[in-house]
Amino acid sequence: MKKGILLLVAALLALHVSAQKAENLALTPPMGWNSWNTFGTDINEKLVKDIADAFVETGLKDAGYEYLVLDDGWMAMERDENYNLVPDPKKFPNGMKAVVDYVHSKGLKFGIYNCAGNKTCAGYPGSRGFEYQDAKLYAEWGVDFLKYDWCNTENLNAKGAYQTMRDALHATGRPILFSICEWGDNDPWKWGEEMGHMWRVTGDIINCWDCKVGHGTWSSLGVWPIIKLRKDIRKYSGPGHWNDFDMMEVGNGMPVGQDRVHFAMWVMLSSPLIMGNDLRSASEETIEILTNEEVIAVSQDKLGIQAYCHSDEGKIEMWAKPMADGEWAFAIVNMSEEPVEIDHDWSWHPVKDDLSGRSLSVEQNEYTIRDLYNHKDLVTTKKNLKATIPGHDVLMIRLTPKKK
Ligand code: GLA
Repeated sequence: MKKGILLLVAALLALHVSAQKAENLALTPPMGWNSWNTFGTDINEKLVKDIADAFVETGLKDAGYEYLVLDDGWMAMERDENYNLVPDPKKFPNGMKAVVDYVHSKGLKFGIYNCAGNKTCAGYPGSRGFEYQDAKLYAEWGVDFLKYDWCNTENLNAKGAYQTMRDALHATGRPILFSICEWGDNDPWKWGEEMGHMWRVTGDIINCWDCKVGHGTWSSLGVWPIIKLRKDIRKYSGPGHWNDFDMMEVGNGMPVGQDRVHFAMWVMLSSPLIMGNDLRSASEETIEILTNEEVIAVSQDKLGIQAYCHSDEGKIEMWAKPMADGEWAFAIVNMSEEPVEIDHDWSWHPVKDDLSGRSLSVEQNEYTIRDLYNHKDLVTTKKNLKATIPGHDVLMIRLTPKKK
C-alpha cells in the first residue's frame, strides 16, 4: 500500500516536472484570423459565425487557414461568484461553448485571448492568479489556441508568467497552441521556444508601409519598421516556435501592391499568417493574395527557415529563404514608388545562408524560376532574370533545382 502511494507520488512529480507546451503543434507557421485589427472589442456571436462561414465560402479554409481567434473584449467586466470568467452576455448570449462548437462544425479551430496581468489591455479580467482555473475553462469549451497578452503585469517576470500559463494549459490535457504576446520587451525569442509556439516580436502593427504612430509609452509600427526591427532574430524561429510579426493588415486599406509585399514578407519571414481584415467584405484582390497557394506553400515549407536580406540596393531589396530539397524562395521588393527594372545575373550574386549553411549553386545546377504571384514559369538560372517591378510591389519567385 505504502509502495503504491510512493509510486503515485513519484508519478505525479514526474508529471509535474515534465510540464511542457503541447507537442507537435505549429510545425509550420500557424494560419488563421484574429478579430483585433478590424473589430477591437466590438465582437459578438454573430460576427464569429459569419467569419467562420466566410472562411469556408472564400476558400480561405481550403487554402490552409485554420484558427479563428477572438481577441480582447469577449468577457464580462467581472468574474462570477466562483471566480470563473464569464463571456459578455450581450455579445455572447448563448455562452462561449456554443460559439466554439459552431466554429468546430465548420472544420476550423477556435482561439481565445487573455492576459498575464490583472486586467487585459482593454480592461477586462486578466488571468493573474487564476491561470489553472482559466485554462480548465478554456479546455472545457474546446478552445484550441490561447493568445496571452502582457498588460498590467506589475512585478511579474515575463518568462515565469508564461511558464505558469504553459503549465496550466498542459494540466488540462488538451493540446492548446500557446501564442505569447509580450511585444518583444523581454526578448521572448530567447525563452519562447520552451514556453509556447509563437511570440510577438514588437508592439502592435498598423496598416501602413513605413510609418510609426506614437501612443505615449509605445508606438504602433507599419510593415517595414516591424521587419527592420526584428530581421536579425531569425535563428530563434523554426518548426514549433515562431517569431510572430503580428496579425496581418492585408485588406485593411493599403494599396494592393503593398499588400502583396506585406503578405510575401510575412511568408518569407516564417511569421504566423493571422489575417486581421473583415473576411465578410474582403475584395477579390485581397482574397486572391491571401489564398495564393503557391505563395502559401513557401510559408509552409517544412524546414521553417526565416528569410534573410540577401541584398539591399536602396530601391531593390532581395530577401532569400532556403527551403527543403534544395529549393529557394526570393522576394524581390521594390522599395521605391517608381517602377524599377531588374536584370539579375545569378552567377554574379552568390547566394549563401550562413545560418543554415545552405547555398544556391548555379554553377553546379540549373534552377527553374517560378513567378508565384503570377503563376508563370520564367527563365532558368542560366539566363539573367529580367523584370519590371511596379513601385512598392514585389516579384516573388521559387527556384527549383533541375537535378535534385
Ligand atoms: C495588445 C496586443 C494586441 C491586442 C490588444 C487587445 O495591444 O498587442 O494585439 O491583443 O492588446 O487589447
